[in-house]
Amino acid sequence: MKVTLKNVTKKFGSTVAVNDFSATFPDGHLICLLGPSGCGKSTVLNILCGILDVTSGQVFFDDDDVTSLSPEQRNIGMVFQNYALYPHLTVLENIAFPLEVQKVNKKIRIEKAKEIAELVHVENLLHRFPGELSGGQQQRVAIARALIKNPKLLLMDEPLSNLDARLRLEMREEIRRIQIETGVTTIFVTHDQDEAMSISDSIILMKDGVLAQEGLCTELYNQPNSKFVADFLGNPPINVIEGYLEKNKFIFDDNSGSIFLENMTDLNMPNMTKLFENKKLTLAIRPESFILDKIISKDDTDKYDKNLFQVLSVFKQTREELAHIKIGTKELSIFLPDDSDVKKDDKVILSIKQKGCFIFNAQTGERLK
Ligand SMILES: Nc1ncnc2c1ncn2[C@@H]1O[C@H](COP(=O)(O)OP(=O)(O)O)[C@@H](O)[C@H]1O
Ligand SMILES: [Mg+2]
Repeated sequence: MKVTLKNVTKKFGSTVAVNDFSATFPDGHLICLLGPSGCGKSTVLNILCGILDVTSGQVFFDDDDVTSLSPEQRNIGMVFQNYALYPHLTVLENIAFPLEVQKVNKKIRIEKAKEIAELVHVENLLHRFPGELSGGQQQRVAIARALIKNPKLLLMDEPLSNLDARLRLEMREEIRRIQIETGVTTIFVTHDQDEAMSISDSIILMKDGVLAQEGLCTELYNQPNSKFVADFLGNPPINVIEGYLEKNKFIFDDNSGSIFLENMTDLNMPNMTKLFENKKLTLAIRPESFILDKIISKDDTDKYDKNLFQVLSVFKQTREELAHIKIGTKELSIFLPDDSDVKKDDKVILSIKQKGCFIFNAQTGERLK
């Protein structure tokens, strides 16, 4: 089932939790609603399942306007962060519970519960109580319970936040497998970019109740349309410097230094440069977008004036090195190849790749391209 939100606004008193939000969730896809805490993700889910009514706007399931339907009339499965299982019911009874509410015949509901238990791999835990299960197992039971009515839409609100790191990775893959096997349209809320990237068909990134950008995670990462999007995705975060451009030289706002952007072909277009000159801009460079041109030893007497950085620290990681460097008053994080030989207190000359290097209007945060 395709889900559409059309100009949805939700106010709680003077707080605008969701602001003129429009989005489409295609049939059979798993879409992540991603964004910082408080940006309105849970409010959107609660509007979709009918727990909250909208202040204005409409909700469509396929072509039907469901804005005024009650939760019971919508046939939606919900999974929350805190499992919300009934402690005094067994796994089997928990899974079958929604069918019991619907007064489905006992034999049928047990059959159906066993079938769903197999799908989520808890078939050998049917007679245990929730208190006798691990967090991951409890969340599997909660997913089974959400799926037992063959919902047309599955909503998951930060379902993995209570699990430890390893289980979280395992359950990501499991949720994806279950979603693909059932083909149910799923909206998965998270504030964790890695989770969103690994689990979803595509992402809707929210900020302050507004849709910031939607698309594949690689599109958001490689083609952010605003400083917010560029900054939200990426770990360590993208390096951000305020300043202005002179040709392809970006000069820092405090005049403590500058960076040459020789590879940025965008900047070579004559009218582009004019447009940028002396405007307040934000330069953002991903840590992996630096190329190591030269390491300068202490007794090197040549004069270098281009992109000369001082190395503050180098951390070995499994696949690369993370270094902190300084130019002028600005400190940046960069990734180096794991065999770079760069050491603390070295000086290095770096050039900047076009990919992962962006320029934003400093006032509006909008990307200039
Ligand atoms: N029932 C409520 N009453 C008042 N304000 C609320 C209520 N629910 C959410 N809010 C506010 O709406 C905004 C969005 O909240 P929420 O949707 O829970 O964000 P998220 O799930 O992205 O963390 C926040 O500012 C929050 O404080
Ligand atoms: Mg929330």
